[in-house]
Formats: sequence, C-alpha cells, structure tokens
Amino acid sequence: MAKILIIDDDDSVCKALSYTFTEEGYEVSTAATGTDGLNRFVETSPDVVILDISLPDIDGFTVLEDLREDDENVKVIMVTADHDMDTTINAMKSGAFDYISKPLNMDELRTAVRKALRASQMEKKVDGLLLKPPLRFKAGDIIGRGKEMSDIFKTIGVVSQSKTTVLIQGESGTGKELIAKVIHRNTSPNEPYVAVNCSAIVETLLESELFGHEKGSFTGAISRKLGKFELARYGTVFLDEISEMSLNLQAKLLRVLQEMEFERVGGKDRVKVNARIVAATNRDLKSLVEEGKFRDDLYYRLYVVSINIPPLRERKEDIAPLVDYLLAKINLDLNKQILGVSDDVMEDFLKYSWPGNIRELENLLVSAIVIAKGQILVREDFIEFIEGIQNNKTEVTSNDTVTESGRLLTLDEVEEGYIRKVIKTSSNKTKGEICEILGVYRPTFERKLEKYRISFERE
Ligand SMILES: Nc1ncnc2c1ncn2[C@@H]1O[C@H](COP(=O)(O)OP(=O)(O)OP(=O)(O)O)[C@@H](O)[C@H]1O
Ligand SMILES: [Mg+2]
Repeated sequence: MAKILIIDDDDSVCKALSYTFTEEGYEVSTAATGTDGLNRFVETSPDVVILDISLPDIDGFTVLEDLREDDENVKVIMVTADHDMDTTINAMKSGAFDYISKPLNMDELRTAVRKALRASQMEKKVDGLLLKPPLRFKAGDIIGRGKEMSDIFKTIGVVSQSKTTVLIQGESGTGKELIAKVIHRNTSPNEPYVAVNCSAIVETLLESELFGHEKGSFTGAISRKLGKFELARYGTVFLDEISEMSLNLQAKLLRVLQEMEFERVGGKDRVKVNARIVAATNRDLKSLVEEGKFRDDLYYRLYVVSINIPPLRERKEDIAPLVDYLLAKINLDLNKQILGVSDDVMEDFLKYSWPGNIRELENLLVSAIVIAKGQILVREDFIEFIEGIQNNKTEVTSNDTVTESGRLLTLDEVEEGYIRKVIKTSSNKTKGEICEILGVYRPTFERKLEKYRISFERE
C-alpha cells in the first residue's frame, strides 16, 4: 500500500486530506509541525509527502531540504497560499516534485500524488533491478550497433592510416561533423582541425577563407591572411555543406585536390596542402550532379572514400543506446541525474521517423529534462512531441489496403504498392526526389526496388 505523509499546521486540511486519501486506499500519516513531520518521515518512510510551506516552527523550504538530505529522491508536493511566481519557481528549484496552491483543488492534488507515485515506483524498479550499468558518457563517442555503423567504424579506422579525402553523406543531424572529428582525432590529434561551412559565406569571401589572400589583393585586404588550408597545417580541413559551393569555386577546389597545391588570392606563390580534407553534405550529391549543380569530376574525386550515415529511422536499434548516451551527456551538462525514459516513451521513440535525426533526439531530451520532475522521463515530459506524432499520423485509406476479394494486404504489399504509386505519379522526378518523398535514403530505396522487383530506369 502506498504511503502518504501530510505535513500541515491547519488541522482541518490534515483531516480532510487524511480522510480522502485513506478512502482511496493510501496509508496516511499526518504532522502539524516541521519537526514532527521530519520525525514521522523517518518513522514511516512515505512514498509521497504533501508539505505546507508556512509551518509554525521551521519553514517548508527547510523541511524540504532536510527531507531531501534524508532521501534525495523523495517526492514532495508543496502546497501554500502564496502562489506567486517566485515561490513556485523556488519550490521547483529546491527539488519539489510539484507545487499546488491553496485553496486546494482535490483533483489536482490527486493527479499530482498519482504522478509522484508513478515516478517513484519507476525509479525503484530501475534501482532494484540494477539491470543497466550507470549511464556513462565519453565525449566524442559515436554510438552505433548495426552493421552499417560498424562498417563506418571500420572505414574510419582505415582512412585514419592515410590522408585520403573523405566524403561524408547523411541527413541533417546524423553525426557528420562528429565523424569528421573522430577521423581527425584518429589521424592527427595534435594538429589543427579547421571547419568551414561552405553555405554560410558569400563566394568571394569563401575563396579567401579557404585559400587566404595577399595584402592589397582586394579592397579591405589590409594584410596577408592565411586561409584554412594553410591554418590546418598537417591536420584536417572540414568542408561542411560542400553542395552549396558555387560551380566556380568547385573548379578551384578540384584543382587543389588534384595538385595538392594552391595560390593565395592575389598571390603567385604556390602553397602546399598538407592537411586532410573531409567534406560533408546532407543533400544527395549524385542527384545534384545529374541536375548540373555539382561538378561530376569533383564528385568522383571526393567520392573515393565515402561514408554514408544511415538516418536514425533506419537504425532503430541505436535509439535506446543513444538515449542512454545522450542522457548521460545532458546530465553532465545540466547537472541532473536522469536515469532513463519510461517504456511507453521508448515505444513512441521507436515509432517516430526522426527527420532531424540524432540532433532532434538530443534537443528533445534536453527540453524534457528541463521540465522533468522525476528521474525517469515520462510521457508528460514530452507533451508537445507526443501531440505532434498523434496529429501527424495519416491513415491509409481503406481501398488501398484490401484486395479485390476483400483480403487485407500485408505490410510488404502495402509498401510495394505505395512505392509503385509514387513512382507512377511522379514521372518527372529524379530518383533523389523520389527518395525524399518516400523519406528513405538512396541505398534503402535501391534495396526495396530490388526486393519488389520494380524496374526503375530513371536517374
Ligand atoms: N552516433 C552518434 N552517437 C552519439 N552522438 C551522436 C551521434 N550522431 C550524432 N550525435 C550527436 O548529435 C548531434 C548532431 O551531430 P552533428 O552535428 O555531427 O550532425 P550533422 O550531421 O553534422 O548535422 P547537420 O547536417 O545538421 O550539420 C551532435 O551533438 C552529435 O554529437
Ligand atoms: Mg553539421
């Protein structure tokens, strides 16, 4: 039976709450002062404490502090007549589970007690089972369990023995920059790692960012400036969003890759490139080549070693370990002790498509942790996310899911039918665009074409 301790100097409140909660099957004890409350707490070890802030002897905040000293995870619901912003914020900051103002609304209080109990039961379950080792975090780790990720780890190992150019492709938030840094750390940890975002700056500036310029080479060039290729020395230049580079600059970059030498803007001296170049993109470069927006010779030069990171929705086995990893990371950043997410939240995570990939997961966890009251993140901590997935569900219309004889289709049949339908209705679209519509990455799309023996010649 769950135990509740009520600490309130108002006898009528104690009586009323005691009556209600006893009726509902809780084991209730009461105390009229802070000191008495603390003693009762030790005697009865309740699951939930309902604590009034204004007590005759010690104030409620001090009682809360003492309770938490006794049991860090104690669930305390604070009640008071002052419901100003500061008191509320302070109560939550001091580790109260919830804060409710008087006059008491019984429904609100009941819900708060139920939530507190749920949180404490879940924590006990985790504590008791000790199934999981404590969450660990090591900066720069790449989490990945499946075959595709372990192949990526192998590739990183291989390329780290040389200085070949590497192209990293993956949707946004899949960890392209993380991988670039790991490659750097494994190749030349004591040399500079220099990142350039090719989409963030205008073409002329980007050119001088990359190659540097000589004094007086253009208005404003008041002194010689070294470019990223020189600054990186024997380290790594990370060219992010390479697809956004202008065709003109692509030509210059191609020359650099071929000759491993370049000239500063406005200069004549040949400068040697000693750094490794890692390029990244979240667009399908192959389709951009087909559309004439990316030079094919540069594409092939970059593609020599390529790492294609699958999106998170195609490696659901990584979601649980990533959650653990990211929670440990966020715990450290925000000084929290979150242990995990509840089973129903994990189920939602597994069903979701994660368009923003790991970054989206990370951001979602941060915002949940900020508002979470227990040590396990529960559905209530993800309200907007859960509402979002519920609104986004599209039901397949029924005539798409039954055969003429009325038999319901299998998942594979629905998938095949849908792929065929999309291909048919988008006859002017490229393969890359169709992948985008279907929300799959190119290799997945190719696999499905093969699986369902769909011939699709379009490029
Ligand atoms: N496999 C992974 N394991 C652990 N953390 C990861 C993993 N992949 C990505 N992350 C984390 O997710 C966040 C986003 O990763 P990163 O910035 O490398 O993505 P990106 O592909 O460069 O995204 P964008 O295209 O938006 O620039 C980072 O905080 C990164 O540390
Ligand atoms: Mg990035």
